[in-house]
Amino acid sequence: MNSSQRRHPVLEVLDLKVGFPQSTAVHGITFAIEHGKTMALVGESGCGKSLTAFSILRLLPPTAAILGGQVVFDGQDLATVSARELRRIRGKGISIILQEPMTSLNPVLTIGTQICEIIRRHEGLSRAKAKARALELLDLVGIAEPQRRFDQFPHHFSGGMRQRVMIAIAVACNPQLLIADEPTTALDVTIQAQVMELLNTLRRQLSMAMLLITHDLGAVAQWADRVAVMYAGRIVEQADVAEFFSDPKHPYSQGLLASSVGEDAHYTERRLTEIKGSIASAAGATGCAFAPRCPKVAAACHRAPPALEVIGGGIIRGGWSVACCQLHATEGHHDAVAVG
Ligand SMILES: Nc1ncnc2c1ncn2[C@@H]1O[C@H](COP(=O)(O)OP(=O)(O)OP(=O)(O)O)[C@@H](O)[C@H]1O
Ligand SMILES: [Mg+2]
Repeated sequence: MNSSQRRHPVLEVLDLKVGFPQSTAVHGITFAIEHGKTMALVGESGCGKSLTAFSILRLLPPTAAILGGQVVFDGQDLATVSARELRRIRGKGISIILQEPMTSLNPVLTIGTQICEIIRRHEGLSRAKAKARALELLDLVGIAEPQRRFDQFPHHFSGGMRQRVMIAIAVACNPQLLIADEPTTALDVTIQAQVMELLNTLRRQLSMAMLLITHDLGAVAQWADRVAVMYAGRIVEQADVAEFFSDPKHPYSQGLLASSVGEDAHYTERRLTEIKGSIASAAGATGCAFAPRCPKVAAACHRAPPALEVIGGGIIRGGWSVACCQLHATEGHHDAVAVG
């Protein structure tokens, strides 16, 4: 890669809209991921994280469609490139790993066959060379006795080991970007940390960027460089991780953070879950989708969804941006809100 390419982000998502025949789920989101960096996408269940991730490689469920916007990777818009070009990019340019590795692995093929398949498809290696590379990959992702494991089937592997196999497949062709959609949610807590550690080590060794989708703000603090907080299909705050954790600006971010550190768990219980179904009902609302649950809500919040406004900061491209009508009105009141 030359230096002029380096100046561009590895991925730019511009005003992406995703929806179903009856509804729009992602309402125009914009973010960029820099080469070699980890960007976390957080937000509660149903806010549109997976649809965003799947849109990047056009792996959406059959009823969903990209309704607008661009996904720029390597100078091309993945939202409109040919299916053939997209197949070339999947696995080689961008890989994805999902929460439940059993649904991604084929139960009737040995894991060796499955790793070799992607290597041979993208790299055109001979059977013997592909096997040698697959064994290297198994070793790289921390699977002992790769020779023996190569000929085993997915059901011979524990959940954590299956996720390691998925990671081996995902990194087999040295992608520039790895999308990890809740990669550890299905695993035991002790295994979760090991798998995140592995992902981060590989990211560094292979100079990959990562889009990490997670509910876990602890993981964001530990592993990510940038964070985007989604609420009801929109990004409500985007910042460098250090800035975000020192002083989150959006009332929803403040609520998430207060609940994650434990001191204020009641904040989330009371504020964020007492109004059930508000993410779904927010779809038809005219104003800010978070208004019905927001402790700082004011009349202006019901007029129109607030745009993301750059408020400064940001060592990495993209700065610090927040979508809140009350941003200027509420500066400095964060402590009062955090304690409920
Ligand atoms: N196949 C589908 N048909 C109809 N609506 C869907 C479908 N898949 C997702 N949705 C809706 O789209 C919205 C976003 O879903 P998405 O899966 O992206 O959420 P998410 O943020 O990944 O949630 P989670 O944290 O639970 O994985 C949700 O409101 C969901 O109900
Ligand atoms: Mg999801």
